[in-house]
Amino acid sequence: MTATEAQFSIKPESAALAPRVELLLDRVFGAERREKASYLFREGVAPVAPLSFVALDHHKKLVGSIRYWPIQVGETGHPALLLGPLAITPQLAGKGIGRALTFRTLEIAAEMGYDLVLLVGDYDYYKRFGFVPATPYGFVMPTEKRPERLQVTELKPGVLGRVSGEIRHVKESTGSVVAMPVQPPRRRVRRAAARA
Ligand SMILES: CC(C)(COP(=O)(O)OP(=O)(O)OC[C@H]1O[C@@H](n2cnc3c(N)ncnc32)[C@H](O)[C@@H]1OP(=O)(O)O)[C@@H](O)C(=O)NCCC(=O)NCCS
Repeated sequence: MTATEAQFSIKPESAALAPRVELLLDRVFGAERREKASYLFREGVAPVAPLSFVALDHHKKLVGSIRYWPIQVGETGHPALLLGPLAITPQLAGKGIGRALTFRTLEIAAEMGYDLVLLVGDYDYYKRFGFVPATPYGFVMPTEKRPERLQVTELKPGVLGRVSGEIRHVKESTGSVVAMPVQPPRRRVRRAAARA
């Protein structure tokens, strides 16, 4: 273990930690974060529990959080994930916490059978995880004013190019959260980063 890794640990988010996660998100993004276009897809829908992870420092203080929401894509309602929010406490930025949270959860998402992940964020950061701009692949997030910030990655080869369309709120289309089949890991997501 390196000195940097010793400064934090990665764990699933427990219910008791949820209020502290909300405070961290408010600190990092501001309370107005809830007005972002991506939050429309979170309204009335719970985050995907097995993909909600936190980072704690050696005092057990919350220093990072990642969550994902279920979404659907296109007319077929292809099940996918909306990554985010991802937030690291500013004092510990640049120490690999965001990277650790993202790689760990993308691996679990692939193990759960998800094959497509979208997010709204900086390509220059997310390209290391295999994300590419989503608009050229035909993905549309209605009401997002900066479509160049919409990024996508596939967790199974061949999904990009086959699946595209408008991102849809799960509740509006089905009335329930999509249940994904649990499948064995097909590949390690780090391979995608190596291609980026
Ligand atoms: C962006 C964020 C999640 C990165 O997490 P982190 O733990 O600080 O970053 P990591 O240690 O994993 O990675 C550091 C690398 O990412 C780069 N980086 C960090 N933020 C970046 C950004 N917005 N755009 C491009 N690169 C970025 C750093 O320059 C560094 O590059 P290097 O590896 O070449 O030195 C974190 O800084 C954060 O919470 N920022 C504010 C909220 C935010 O923007 N969240 C993401 C949108 S949902």
